[in-house]
Amino acid sequence: MTVQPSAPAPVLVLQSERPQDGPLVDALVDRAFGPGRFTKVSERVREFATFAPELSMCAWTPDAREGGRLLGCARMWRVRVGGRPVMFLGPFAVEQGERNAGFGGRLIARACEAAAAAGESHVLLVGDEPYFSRVGFTRAGGREVVMPGPVDQRRVLVRGLQPEAGELAGSVGPI
Ligand SMILES: CC(C)(COP(=O)(O)OP(=O)(O)OC[C@H]1O[C@@H](n2cnc3c(N)ncnc32)[C@H](O)[C@@H]1OP(=O)(O)O)[C@@H](O)C(=O)NCCC(=O)NCCS
Repeated sequence: MTVQPSAPAPVLVLQSERPQDGPLVDALVDRAFGPGRFTKVSERVREFATFAPELSMCAWTPDAREGGRLLGCARMWRVRVGGRPVMFLGPFAVEQGERNAGFGGRLIARACEAAAAAGESHVLLVGDEPYFSRVGFTRAGGREVVMPGPVDQRRVLVRGLQPEAGELAGSVGPI
């Protein structure tokens, strides 16, 4: 039997979002979500949340220093849930032609690692459980995490970052 060598993992560079990356990230997010994104409850959160560029991740082709191409992004924001500081993740997107290569999973993993290393306790997001359950997120129980607008509560997902992180409960509000 011939054993085929497994394909090498596609190479990318993950780094925190820099001020000059903002317009490229915004353009990627616009392409991925379209104008409908502004109606989402996550946008209501981002209206009062504090952006955390140091924990927001950008995925680049390896030639980033020579103006490489942005492949994906995962932004992070500071909020409170029931008075407790928590990270809120999103928008999260990978460029259309680059999907299904594991870049999204690597972006989430790196953003969560960075937040854990910074001592943050939880990452909260609104998204598809079938995707995010693969990267460590579970439903935030029942109505315990209250978003600032209508939402399908099954899409409110959380990942604990520390061994004793515990459950989140309460309204999502500004830091
Ligand atoms: C969601 C997104 C960022 C994933 O990026 P990616 O680089 O393709 O992710 P990965 O390569 O890590 O994972 C791909 C796998 O997830 C699956 N997947 C992608 N989106 C999914 C979803 N919404 N629900 C369930 N599974 C999903 C793919 O089918 C693929 O499955 P496979 O590994 O069994 O083939 C990308 O599809 C995207 O930008 N989508 C549009 C924007 C969006 O919906 N963002 C999330 C908002 S909550």
